[in-house]
Amino acid sequence: MKTIAFYSLKGGVGKSASAVNIAYLASQAGYSTLLWDLDPQGAASWYLAGANSVKGRKLSALMKGKTPIASFIHESDYKNLDFIPSHTSFRNLDVKLDQNDSANLIKEWLAPLSEETSLVILDCPPSLSRLSEQVLKAADKVFVPVIPTWLSLNSWLQLREFAREKKLKPSRLHPFYAMADRRKNLHRELIDAQDDRLPTGLKTIIPYASVVERMGEEGIPVERLAPNSVAADAYRRLWGEIRALL
Ligand SMILES: Nc1ncnc2c1ncn2[C@@H]1O[C@H](COP(=O)(O)OP(=O)(O)OP(=O)(O)O)[C@@H](O)[C@H]1O
Ligand SMILES: [Mg+2]
Repeated sequence: MKTIAFYSLKGGVGKSASAVNIAYLASQAGYSTLLWDLDPQGAASWYLAGANSVKGRKLSALMKGKTPIASFIHESDYKNLDFIPSHTSFRNLDVKLDQNDSANLIKEWLAPLSEETSLVILDCPPSLSRLSEQVLKAADKVFVPVIPTWLSLNSWLQLREFAREKKLKPSRLHPFYAMADRRKNLHRELIDAQDDRLPTGLKTIIPYASVVERMGEEGIPVERLAPNSVAADAYRRLWGEIRALL
């Protein structure tokens, strides 16, 4: 079982959209995939289940060790793809993690699933917190969407620094450009200078595309919604790069 995370301390950079599209592509490639929506906003649950969004469960039962993680898991409409929906109680996760000095709770919770799950994908809220630390510890690889702007690049550098300070192996962090709009001068400039600005980044660039917004409205992964679109092609290439790193 491999665990990957989509994470950035910056909000609205395309974490949830990427997590859902990659989860779908992984499941189609035969990986028994579990998407865990760790964000109380519940965007990933929404993208995956749309208006039929299922209600998640309080985390307290899991924290107390009374309820096994399996009972938090829901089936999606797609073969090989299950998910743990978000719950508003997830907003207290940080406090709970602080109270518990166990080294790696997320990893411990996931351990019983290792037989039947080949890939766990964590969709994280935008923050630099105890939860981030846990996620950075639990994930084998962390994928960081970066909008080609100075602010977004800066938050990537902050994250890398945070990982260094906490000795969380920064080499496991893989940034990639997302929501890239070549009509914008700055985006073009930073993309063309990728080797300098984002030297350790993945090669795939996720374009800014209205079909990704529609995915949010309809609750369907881009690969299903518009398989011939440029965005679908980009997510397939992103999945190819991620798969090679697993
Ligand atoms: N490639 C894209 N092209 C156009 N719109 C996008 C793209 N990726 C995401 N979006 C839109 O941008 C918004 C934010 O995307 P998303 O929820 O994936 O970001 P996030 O980083 O998970 O945000 P948060 O930090 O709030 O969790 C959503 O409305 C989504 O539909
Ligand atoms: Mg999100």
